[in-house]
Amino acid sequence: MHAAAMTVPPTNKVAIVTGASSGIGLALSTSLIAQSWTVVLADINATAGAAAASTLGPKASFVETDVSSWTSQLALFKSVFTRFGRLDFVAANAGIDDKDAVYADFEAEEPEALNFKTLEVDLLAPIMSFRLALFYMRRNPDKSGGAIVITSSSAGLYPFSSNPEYAAAKHGLIGFARSVAPVLKREKITVNCICPALVSTNLAPASLWTLIPKDQLTPMSTIMRAFHGFIDGHKDLLTGQAAECAIDDIFYRDPVDFPSQSQKDMFSRDLGAWMSAYDM
Ligand SMILES: NC(=O)c1ccc[n+]([C@@H]2O[C@H](COP(=O)([O-])OP(=O)(O)OC[C@H]3O[C@@H](n4cnc5c(N)ncnc54)[C@H](O)[C@@H]3O)[C@@H](O)[C@H]2O)c1
Repeated sequence: MHAAAMTVPPTNKVAIVTGASSGIGLALSTSLIAQSWTVVLADINATAGAAAASTLGPKASFVETDVSSWTSQLALFKSVFTRFGRLDFVAANAGIDDKDAVYADFEAEEPEALNFKTLEVDLLAPIMSFRLALFYMRRNPDKSGGAIVITSSSAGLYPFSSNPEYAAAKHGLIGFARSVAPVLKREKITVNCICPALVSTNLAPASLWTLIPKDQLTPMSTIMRAFHGFIDGHKDLLTGQAAECAIDDIFYRDPVDFPSQSQKDMFSRDLGAWMSAYDM
């Protein structure tokens, strides 16, 4: 029924990967290039990103981008669509851990404002990436839609007391993806989340890796399997999923159960009924 989706030959497919200078984004860019995708690596770290793109060869290029800036992301997406004329896959993957201590007491007489960079990069930026991906994927010449994968975390599924702002952002991404996915399915635009457990990258302080037993680390191969599952799953319009990646396993997690019929009825109500109240 959906055989028309993603009919573009693999060699013509265009991807944007944010946070591509390091870790998961770099591994994903490498694996897409191996499958003949055209990949635009986007990252705030220009030195590592430009070096990575040049190592990956002519189908890779790098655009310096601060995902927490709308202007910077707009310039990225616009340049990619202008250059290649299409956009098939976006990984909204850039992320940082907590940069402020919500628990800390302060020397000053009054509490200081928190630094919300973690929420800007980890929650607001993927929503901006989504908005831009949607805009350009809708303009793909063959109306083939596209696949958006957002990197959440296992910390989006469980409490994570060492990094509560990170946990808040990552929980938010899953709620966002599950909310938009059903609306966009008919446009062949899929939106899914990856929820990695601990993967050895540059995200956390280097000293962390000495504390964690090696057998509790999730290999990058599991994360890549989950990403490619969503990319390949686009043809069947697999959407609204949260893929928890732990060690060698991928668990597709459901939202919590409705505790009562009234809650089920409330959240199963037709979108049009809600929208009419919001005048959007
Ligand atoms: N490593 C893990 O254990 C783990 C677990 C769960 C989720 N994640 C998520 O995976 C994603 C990738 O992280 P990683 O583990 O590969 O870490 P990483 O630090 O190796 O890579 C993150 C990349 O994001 C880039 N980045 C940071 N701020 C940016 C900004 N404002 N604009 C553009 N780029 C920016 C960094 O420069 C870096 O290249 C993140 O969203 C992270 O939260 C990682």
